[in-house]
Amino acid sequence: MEFSHQFSLQNYNSFNIKAITPTIYFPKTVVDLEQLPDLHDSSFYILGDGSNTLFVDHHAPIIIKPEFKGISILETPDNYIVSVGAAENWHDFVCLCIEQGIYGLENLALIPGSVGAAPVQNIGAYGLELSHFCTQVKWFEFSSKVIKEINKNSCQFSYRDSIFKQTLYNKGIITEVVFSFPKSWQANLSYAGLSDLGDTPSAKAVMDRVISLRQMKLPDPRKLPNAGSFFKNPIVTEQTLILLKKCYPEIPFYPQNHGSIKLAAGWLIEQAGLKGYCKNGVGVHENQALVLVNYSSERGQNIVALAKHVQQQVLTKFNISISPEVRMITVNGEQSFNHLVIDSESE
Ligand code: EPU
Repeated sequence: MEFSHQFSLQNYNSFNIKAITPTIYFPKTVVDLEQLPDLHDSSFYILGDGSNTLFVDHHAPIIIKPEFKGISILETPDNYIVSVGAAENWHDFVCLCIEQGIYGLENLALIPGSVGAAPVQNIGAYGLELSHFCTQVKWFEFSSKVIKEINKNSCQFSYRDSIFKQTLYNKGIITEVVFSFPKSWQANLSYAGLSDLGDTPSAKAVMDRVISLRQMKLPDPRKLPNAGSFFKNPIVTEQTLILLKKCYPEIPFYPQNHGSIKLAAGWLIEQAGLKGYCKNGVGVHENQALVLVNYSSERGQNIVALAKHVQQQVLTKFNISISPEVRMITVNGEQSFNHLVIDSESE
C-alpha cells in the first residue's frame, strides 16, 4: 500500500491550512485495508477530499485517505443501480449520471468532496439530501477486517448526520456507495431558487441552475479557500420560533418533521453584523455569512478563533447556539468544537 511520512496536508484541505501528518496511508484495495496497522490506540482521521475538514493544529494525526475508484451501472426494468467508489469526486459523479441519462442528483451538483464522505454527513442542498437515493453503503470494518453492507434504513440518516458520525465513528472505512435512481424521474423544484424553471425542466437545466446559484452565492474553494457552510442550521422548537418572531418578524424558518423548526444560521450571523467581518487573515464571507473563508492564513487556530467569535455573537444576540458542520482535527484526532481552546496568537 502506498504511504508517506511527514506529509504536508496543505493541498489536501480546502481551507488550505498548513498541517503535517506523521503518516498518511492511501489504501486502494481490500488487501491494502487488511494491511493497515492496528490504529486502536492511536489518533487517526479518515480524509476524503478535505472539503469539510479543519486542521486545527500545525500537526495532524495519522491520516487514512481511501483511494477506491470505479463506477458501475446496472439497469433493472424500473431503476438504475449505480455503485461508486468512495474516492470518486462527487460533482464529477453527478455530471456523469446526468450525461448518461440517469437523473436524480442534479440538485446536489457542485458540492465539493468525495463520494465516500457524502453519506457520512448526508450531504444536502436545494431541497434534496443524499439519503433520498442512497440505498446501501459498503464499509470495511476494522475489527473483523471484512467489507460489510449497511442498508439505507440502518444508516440513521438525518440532517447532516448518519451512523458513520455516531456509533460507527472510526470503526471502519467507507469503500463504496450504492444508489438507486427510478427511471420515472421528476424534477425536484421545492427550493425557492428553482421554482421558476417551468413545469418540466430537463435534469440538465436543473443542474445548470443549481450550479449557477452555487457559483453566485458560494466562494470557489480553489480561488478563496473555504469549507462550504461552516455551521449547521440550528434546529429549534416552535416555542423558540414564536419568541424570535416577536422581535424579528422577517426571520426565515423551515418547519421539519415532528414539529421542530430549522433556522438559517447565515441569516442569524448576518443579523449579528458579522457578514464580511475579518480578523487574522480569515473572515466571514461577504455573500453567504454561513461560509468562513481563508484569505491569507496558514493557521487553523485563526479559523477556530473566528468561529468562536461568530458563535458567541449569535448566542448573545439570539440566545441560539450554532455549531460547526466542519470537522475539527487536532494533533490528537477529532475534537468537539466546544472543547477547543484558542491559543494566544489567534485571540
Ligand atoms: N441568508 C442570509 N444571509 C446570509 C446567508 C443566508 O440572510 O448571509 C438567508 C437567505 O436569504 C435565506 C436563508 O438564509 O433566507 C437560507 O439561505 P440559503 O438558501 O442560501 O441556504 P443556507 O441555509 O444558508 C443550506 C446548506 C447549504 C446549501 C443551501 C442550499 C446547511 C448548513 N447549508 O445553506 O449547504 O447549499 O442550504 O440548499 O444546511 C454546505 O453544506 O456546505 C452548503 C453550502
